[in-house]
Amino acid sequence: MDAFLPEHKRTIYCGRIRPEHVGKEVVLCGWVHRRRDHGGLVFVDLRDREGLVQVVINPEGSAEAHAKADALRVEYVLSVRGTVRRRPPGTENPSLPTGDVEVAAATLAILNESRPIPFSLDEDSDVAENVRLKYRYLDLRRPSIQAMFVRRARLARAVREYFFENGFLEVETPVLTKSTPEGARDYLVPSRVNPGMFYALPQSPQLFKQILMMAGYDRYAQIVKCFRDEDLRADRQPEFTQIDVEMSFIDRDDIFTMMEGLMARVFREVLDVTVARPIPRMGYREAMDRFGVDKPDTRFALEIADYTGLLSAAGFRVFSEIAAKGGVIRGITVPGLAESSRSELAALEEVAKIGGAAGLAWFKATDKGLASPLAKFFKEEQLAALREKSGAKAGDLILVVADTFDVACASLGRLRLHLGEKLGMIDKSLYHLLWVTDFPLLEWDKEEKRWSAMHHPFTAPLDEDLPLLATDPGSVRAKAYDMVLNGSEIGGGSIRIHRKDVQSRMFQLLDIDPDAARLKFGFLLEALEFGAPPHGGIAFGLDRLAMIFSGAKSLRDVIAFPKTQKATCLMTDAPSMVDVEQLRELSIRVTVPEKR
Ligand code: AMO
Ligand code: AMP
Repeated sequence: MDAFLPEHKRTIYCGRIRPEHVGKEVVLCGWVHRRRDHGGLVFVDLRDREGLVQVVINPEGSAEAHAKADALRVEYVLSVRGTVRRRPPGTENPSLPTGDVEVAAATLAILNESRPIPFSLDEDSDVAENVRLKYRYLDLRRPSIQAMFVRRARLARAVREYFFENGFLEVETPVLTKSTPEGARDYLVPSRVNPGMFYALPQSPQLFKQILMMAGYDRYAQIVKCFRDEDLRADRQPEFTQIDVEMSFIDRDDIFTMMEGLMARVFREVLDVTVARPIPRMGYREAMDRFGVDKPDTRFALEIADYTGLLSAAGFRVFSEIAAKGGVIRGITVPGLAESSRSELAALEEVAKIGGAAGLAWFKATDKGLASPLAKFFKEEQLAALREKSGAKAGDLILVVADTFDVACASLGRLRLHLGEKLGMIDKSLYHLLWVTDFPLLEWDKEEKRWSAMHHPFTAPLDEDLPLLATDPGSVRAKAYDMVLNGSEIGGGSIRIHRKDVQSRMFQLLDIDPDAARLKFGFLLEALEFGAPPHGGIAFGLDRLAMIFSGAKSLRDVIAFPKTQKATCLMTDAPSMVDVEQLRELSIRVTVPEKR
């Protein structure tokens, strides 16, 4: 191995070399991606953060370099001094940005060796994810993964620049803090100097950013880590990053305008895509009615239609009973699926059942009319009206669910996404942004038999719905909004309650008794009494944006050191057991029996 001397320092990245550099002397630093020996002539693909370039080591060119070339193995670390030249005609590689040139090595320093690597770093090599995560430092060397982190860094930079230009202050909020109500479990940290007491890691900086508004900071934005102990999915990590924003003396429209500017900026800088503004808005209720979800993927239609009035009269007992109990009968019309077999229909029914449906009724549209095992229960006119309202053409399939509103939405929403994907109805080149607004303020907690805040307890009700708080809390709408991108919730926020009397009324409704409220967020309630300005904000999931921008399937791909589904880090083996001594210092006794 060679020492790292001043003459070994890089003059240009491997991936940046182009024909304009032909004739120039360069020094490259990087890793051996591949080595080929062509009878004395050795070719090395040298790789760094910016890409690969071919290095040629010729016995006539430099005997010393050639002597070392024999020892080279994959992932050895080199410094190469050489001259850029054009590749001989016919040997160019059009799939590489550096494919027209190569570097003829004059000297070569081996700065470090590498054990044989446990998996190939070639893009097409198929490696189990747990192996990739254990050796994340090797996985992170792959050019396609590096490209994702370059894109993520560009995204974060565009965000920071936008907020800086628009007069936002970046203020850091604490990580060792008190519980913040975002609906997940807290991660707790024991306090050594206060035995038996715990900090909570923030689920979001929600309370602090509101306090900053009360402190007069007017516009705040922070790229910040949040921690939530919840069941993990592909689009959820226990620690993730928010683009967190709060503004004073504003209403919803100001937030929308400012955030649409942010989206336009990041889409332009990261993807070179122009965002059409204003971004469309849709009420929560309309989203549920048309798409069955509060984060509709509007890149394709396949919308839900309501047949409650039509199919409840007479006919099928199951349907009329559900309608009589206040349920709904709804369906989607799927183009071209009338030829589905029994097993294909059964598979669709299984999808509907995941959403809670008891069954899935179907009607096949033919030249003659609608064919269905249920057809015999309905009158001719009912079937004709169904066909008319569904818009079904011969060859189409109408799928119908009768159930409560929630179950019908969940089942048909799921079916819609399943079929949209399966039938290739989604144009993946599109980016559909959408504001979903007017969420319900409260939702009924069936287990606890009480109202809970749908967003969080500091979200303001719509002014026109205020009187309903006393009479019909369930129908009160909130000044809350989500931003949806291609069917994914990328952000959410609200205008906050800034008046003490409204906040107290909200706690009353939520059945949070005043003492409990004081204990949990007394500092916020007190701050409300000292001149709180009207304010509101939003937080975006930076990881989710990065994931969609990179076309990745999992958040794990765009987080440098992610956690698994079981919230572990395979590289560091966190979480892990700690010394008994450490526990004693923290006054903690663990009740889990030690694994033998
Ligand atoms: P909310 O809980 O909706 O709002 O979170 C905002 C956004 O953060 C992202 N997100 C996540 N990303 C990855 N993994 C997770 N576990 C995870 N949880 C949430 C989502 C989501 O839209 N304080 C409020 C915001 C406000 O009212 O201003 C809040 O945290 O993209
Ligand atoms: P059954 O009368 O239970 O044999 O059901 C006859 C058909 O109606 C089957 O195809 C069921 O899947 C369907 N079905 C039953 N309940 C519902 C429901 N709640 N919504 C839609 N279809 C249903």
